[in-house]
Amino acid sequence: MLSTTTTIAIVGAGYVGSAIANALLLRQVARDIVLVDIDEDMCRAQVQDLSDAAFSSATRVTQGTYRDASLCDIIVIAAGIGPRFDESRLSLIDKNLGTLKQVLGAMRPLRQDAIVVVVANPVDLLTYFAQQLSGLPKCQVFGSGTSLDSVRLRAALAERLQISSSAIQANVLGEHGDSQVVAWSTATVGGSPLSNVFPFHLDDQPEIAKATKEKAFDIIKAKGHTSYGIAAVVSSICECIILDRRQVHPLSHWQESLKCCLSLPAILGRSGVLSTIPTPLSEGERALIEKSAKEMRQVVHQCAW
Ligand code: LAC
Repeated sequence: MLSTTTTIAIVGAGYVGSAIANALLLRQVARDIVLVDIDEDMCRAQVQDLSDAAFSSATRVTQGTYRDASLCDIIVIAAGIGPRFDESRLSLIDKNLGTLKQVLGAMRPLRQDAIVVVVANPVDLLTYFAQQLSGLPKCQVFGSGTSLDSVRLRAALAERLQISSSAIQANVLGEHGDSQVVAWSTATVGGSPLSNVFPFHLDDQPEIAKATKEKAFDIIKAKGHTSYGIAAVVSSICECIILDRRQVHPLSHWQESLKCCLSLPAILGRSGVLSTIPTPLSEGERALIEKSAKEMRQVVHQCAW
């Protein structure tokens, strides 16, 4: 269903940003997509290429400036470098925080009702800094977080259990990165605890969790980057915002009790994150989340921003 007024800016027209634009074109939920990049020639070529894909879409895609982006309803920040297969997403913080400061500086002042969706990595830290730098209410600035990891987890479980992934409610939580946590204790199939429905051995879970965590780097090792998975997830997030669907997504957002941004299940609507869903994690899972939060607070403290 096309929103006849909503405009989405995608800042960063590289592999991820252009794939998000293409996924949004196919969903046809926004009236306009504005693609922005510091490399204007590359951005122009991406828009020209995407315009060839737009023939069957009611959504229009154009190239814009940072000022144009600041006037959009939703601003997706995909600008930044991606990780090599042998490095952590956290190691990108210095370079990509510099980029974030540049693009937000070029867009300020943002519309006070703008929704900012951070995709660039390390997404949890950049979400925190985007909240600080944008001056917008924290509920309007959040990251894709472990939404993609959770999609990967459900697909792996669906394959192992030979059932549809749509029947599986299971989330990866915490950092979109090396310290991510699979919330096995809250995983269900058709509303029943996963462990009851499919009593598979505990030793299967670490293997599935490891494969989920490492999937991005397996892909990056072979093709140099990931794009289609994150694009599908971000376009789904944007649709949820535009249509005020109030779905629950594991989004990276501010956790007052942990004093950092990381992913917990959140209700998402037109005004951003409406609330965090209280999640009855096991003691071990909660300890891992708190350990991850401590690590991220330490990295934030070391950043000269
Ligand atoms: C991945 C990137 C988006 O996990 O971090 O594919």
